Amino acid sequence: MSGSGSRVAVIPGDGIGMEVIPAALEVLDAAADTVGRPRLEATHLSWGCAYYAREGRMMPPDALDVLDEHDAILLGAIGSPEVPDHLAVWGLIMPIRQGFGQYVNLRPIKLLPGVQSPLRDRGPEDLDIVVVRENSEGEYANVGGHVHRGHEEEVAVQTGVFSRKGIERIVEFAFATAERRPRRRVASATKSNAWAYAMPLWDEVCLEVAARHPDVELTKYHVDALAARFATAPDSLDVVVASNLFGDILSDLGAALAGSLGIAPSGNIDPTRRHPSMFEPIHGSAPDIAGQGIANPFGAIWAGAMMLEHLGRDEEAALVVDALEWASSRPETRTPDLGGTGNTATVAAAVAARVAERTPSPA
Ligand code: NAI
Ligand code: MG
Repeated sequence: MSGSGSRVAVIPGDGIGMEVIPAALEVLDAAADTVGRPRLEATHLSWGCAYYAREGRMMPPDALDVLDEHDAILLGAIGSPEVPDHLAVWGLIMPIRQGFGQYVNLRPIKLLPGVQSPLRDRGPEDLDIVVVRENSEGEYANVGGHVHRGHEEEVAVQTGVFSRKGIERIVEFAFATAERRPRRRVASATKSNAWAYAMPLWDEVCLEVAARHPDVELTKYHVDALAARFATAPDSLDVVVASNLFGDILSDLGAALAGSLGIAPSGNIDPTRRHPSMFEPIHGSAPDIAGQGIANPFGAIWAGAMMLEHLGRDEEAALVVDALEWASSRPETRTPDLGGTGNTATVAAAVAARVAERTPSPA
């Protein structure tokens, strides 16, 4: 990529989204300054539940056109007690994911140094997984209907939609991800013993893709056994590829094993790069702590690092992740949810300062 700036649409959203996003931008600016690249050119968009209260919608009618002018999107969190959650999600997050063909949901799960996992006797070397979740079809395709609505014999039918192309592109993405990681392993979540149409197709396509990547080892697990493996042998897992539903469940399980909801990042990615991809911490707007200045900014900062990587700014991304691993290991640079004594602003300032020192990552 050239030395020009990257255009980023920034949607802090609601609640602690408005606290953790400025924290993340402070760190991202520090990373740009440290490596001597132009800072991200951020367009701040105050869309979300406050906008809804004024305008009766979560974002303006031309929102996707506005976003499409950018190289990436950084989102805080959406949601407020005043707006029903499904209106908030279907009014902002889903239109972006679907409208921009963000068919990959990418969730790195890493136990940071100094963070206590609910798994006994497990440290950072035991938990370093990337969940690659299908984000556009499968069990969440929203195809189905009702019969006998409102009567005693009422029936609901909901079906999964699995296309060869949809499976192939997500599995390809998982293999490409594994090729950039030292262990080069892909675990596929299946359930072909019980879901005897869709999952055999999933398995078949996995084998076809694996044949094109002889340098990556593929193992298939039934999803129930794989969930157990997350708890009993997380060190045996590297990249996990899963359908929309299976990936949703496994990635939340993984985030819980990594210690706090406030840490985990995610990317909604359009690998074709026709449209901007969107990066966000996985946590919500946390109305219970919003306004107190104590929200953990790690998830937003880490989401920012994923965005930098997507923008080809790998050196900056690595600096940010290294600084997070440094900060997580000291109580002064952790927020209270991680047993720390810092707050959103002091932690962000410390991470930014660490980035500015350009401390090389340990080999
Ligand atoms: P939540 O993630 O907002 O909060 C769950 C619990 O974790 C709360 O006790 C909160 O204080 C804590 N927590 C979350 N993030 C934290 C952080 N960074 N630092 C410290 N503590 C943190 O989930 P909840 O309560 O289920 O939802 C609240 C609102 O957020 C709802 O309106 C929901 O729909 C929305 N939501 C939005 C998401 C998004 O924008 N992608 C994702 C999840 C929920
Ligand atoms: Mg979920």
